[in-house]
Amino acid sequence: MIKFNNVSKTYSNSKVAVKNLNIQVKEGETCVLIGPSGCGKSTTLRMVNRLIEPTSGDIYINGKNAHDITNTDLRRNIGYVIQEIALFPNMTVGQNIALVPELKRWPKKRQKKRVMELLDLIGLQPHEYINKYPCELSGGEKQRVGVARALSADPPIMLMDEPFGAIDPITRARLQDEFLVIQEKIKKTIIFVTHDIDEAIKMGDKIAIMCEGKLIQYDTPKVILSNPRNSFVENFIGENRTIKWLNLLSVEKIMISNPPKVSINEKVNSVLAKMYNSGIPYCVVVDNSENLKGFISQKNIIKAKQTNIQNYICPVKEKLKKTTPVAEAIFRMFSNNTNIFPVVDEHDKIKGLVTTEILSSCVNNLNNNPGIKEEQSINVSAHC
Ligand SMILES: Nc1ncnc2c1ncn2[C@@H]1O[C@H](COP(=O)(O)OP(=O)(O)O)[C@@H](O)[C@H]1O
Ligand SMILES: [Mg+2]
Repeated sequence: MIKFNNVSKTYSNSKVAVKNLNIQVKEGETCVLIGPSGCGKSTTLRMVNRLIEPTSGDIYINGKNAHDITNTDLRRNIGYVIQEIALFPNMTVGQNIALVPELKRWPKKRQKKRVMELLDLIGLQPHEYINKYPCELSGGEKQRVGVARALSADPPIMLMDEPFGAIDPITRARLQDEFLVIQEKIKKTIIFVTHDIDEAIKMGDKIAIMCEGKLIQYDTPKVILSNPRNSFVENFIGENRTIKWLNLLSVEKIMISNPPKVSINEKVNSVLAKMYNSGIPYCVVVDNSENLKGFISQKNIIKAKQTNIQNYICPVKEKLKKTTPVAEAIFRMFSNNTNIFPVVDEHDKIKGLVTTEILSSCVNNLNNNPGIKEEQSINVSAHC
């Protein structure tokens, strides 16, 4: 969808802002550009909509060289959100959002419909906000309107330059969460600039770590956290790499999928047989209506004295969602003083089990990972 091919930018004062950048962003993906201040993030972003022209190299958008697309076409088809959203103070929220549709000469009725839809999408009550002026909005609301304005003509691409950077941490976290929900629905191709590694991990499908105009590592958040390419990346990620990784990983990725099910009236031998057949030393116990009644572990029934299973059932203390981060599962396991949790889907159907053994092997795997796989082969400076 967006491809940087050996792109460099040298400013007129000979400042080399971007050096030989090669990145591909797939359709529907969010690529986060991150790195210290002055490393070339904004320059990279602004070359996509040609607010800045590359000195050399090419940027392809859907296979077409950006150089061959007119500036007007580029800017009307690429949403752009910046840190201090410059809403026009003399225009209402509705007029601000409808800026590009107005330039595209959409009929008024269609513009209004789109504005109402977008206000709803960004969580501002349409009838209440459409006629407000920017001075009547909080910082977070202005930023939401800025996002709506960038989305107004439904552009396939969004460029976001530290969009939540100037917002207080609590509102920022809320805007990030809201935007993730929106992106799940709209599936835009996004390049998102930040200098906050936690924001990058949260928002990015891929993270591009830059230093002094060069790309140092381009990988998924998981790979960046588990295999930082060199000490610059490792330092940039900062402390608590393990915790960041466990916060990112969902229990769905580590759970025992589809554990055997047994009925509450089943006999010990039959339960053991099901465990042996499945190779899973646990099973879930359900009643006649498939409601979860508890679990049995092989350890508990292997030496069972009774043939009925009732006395060996561990009760369900809490359920995890498939999306629950592993870090939260560990915390809940300790606070509930239990060693097994069911994982359920959005319809409350059991999808898997998470046990203390799985959680501890997950932590150990990461701790045993050497982290830095290869010092970067290219000549890296003291910083990167
Ligand atoms: N118009 C310009 N003229 C000269 N140098 C510039 C210009 N814009 C940015 N730079 C320099 O280019 C480098 C990269 O800038 P920028 O892309 O804005 O970095 P970032 O967004 O990562 O903070 C910085 O050293 C900056 O000072
Ligand atoms: Mg910048």
